[in-house]
Amino acid sequence: MRDMNQIRNIVILTGAGISAESGIDTFRGGGGLWEQHRVEDVATPEAFARDPDLVQRFYDMRRAAIQEKLPNDAHFALARLDAGWPGELLIVTQNVDDLHERAGARRVLHMHGEHLKVLCTACDTRSPWRAPLLDRPLCPACGVPALRPDVVWFGEMPYQMDAIYAALRGADLFVSIGTSGAVYPAAGLVRDARDLGAATLELNLERSQGSHWFAETRLGPATQLVPQWVEQMLASGPDNNA
Ligand code: APR
Repeated sequence: MRDMNQIRNIVILTGAGISAESGIDTFRGGGGLWEQHRVEDVATPEAFARDPDLVQRFYDMRRAAIQEKLPNDAHFALARLDAGWPGELLIVTQNVDDLHERAGARRVLHMHGEHLKVLCTACDTRSPWRAPLLDRPLCPACGVPALRPDVVWFGEMPYQMDAIYAALRGADLFVSIGTSGAVYPAAGLVRDARDLGAATLELNLERSQGSHWFAETRLGPATQLVPQWVEQMLASGPDNNA
C-alpha cells in the first residue's frame, strides 16, 4: 500500500460490521437482521405498498432499538481521525444508525438513508424523527399522514452517489470497514477507487466478497483494527511529514 505519509484524501466505507460490537445485528451474519424477516417482506417499495403496517412496525422496532445502542471504539476512532485529519475525509456509511455521529464524526454521508429520519411521500420533505410511524403521524411540513422511513430500499437509488464519486476522484486512500461486499453500488466502490489510483485497505472480521480488489486486508474485530489503523494514520498523517 502507498506510504501512509503520501496519503492526503481519504474515503472510508462502513457497513453493518462496524456497529456489530455495539449490539446492532449485521444483515448476513448468523441470526442476522434479515433472517428474522425475509428481505422482500420489509425492505422494498412493493412490500410497503402491499403491507405498510408490517414495514412500519419493522422499522419502528429498529428505530427504537438503535436509540438504546452506543457507539463502540471503532466509531470513536473514526471520529478522532475525522477531527484530527487535515486532508479531505469522508465516511460513506451504508448503515442507517447514527453511531458515527454520536461518536463525534462530522464528515458522514448515509448512502442508504437514516433510521432517525422520515420522508414524506406527499411533499418529499425529510424530517428528523424518533417516534413510531405505525399510527400514521402527520408530516411536520405538509400535515399529510404520508410518512415513511427515510431508508433506501432494495430497488431504490442510494443517496448522494455524485458526492461519493466526487470524493473518490480525489482520494489517495479508500478504506472499507465491516461490509460483506454483497450489495452494489457500495460493493463496487473499491474498484472505482483502484481505477482512480487510490490505495485500498479492507478492515473486516472475515474476507468479504470483494477482498481480492483490495491491496491490503486486515482481519479482526473493528474495535481492534480501526483504532490501530487510526493511530497509524494520525502518527504518520500529512502534517507529521510536512
Ligand atoms: N468487526 C468487523 N467486521 C465485522 C464484525 C466486527 N465485529 N462483525 C461482522 N463483521 C463483518 C462481517 O464479516 C461482514 O463481512 O461485517 C460484514 C457485515 O456484512 P453485512 O451483514 O452484509 O452488512 P453490510 O455489508 O453492511 O450490508 C450492506 O445490505 O441489506 C443491505 O442495505 C443493507 O446496508 C446494508 C447492505
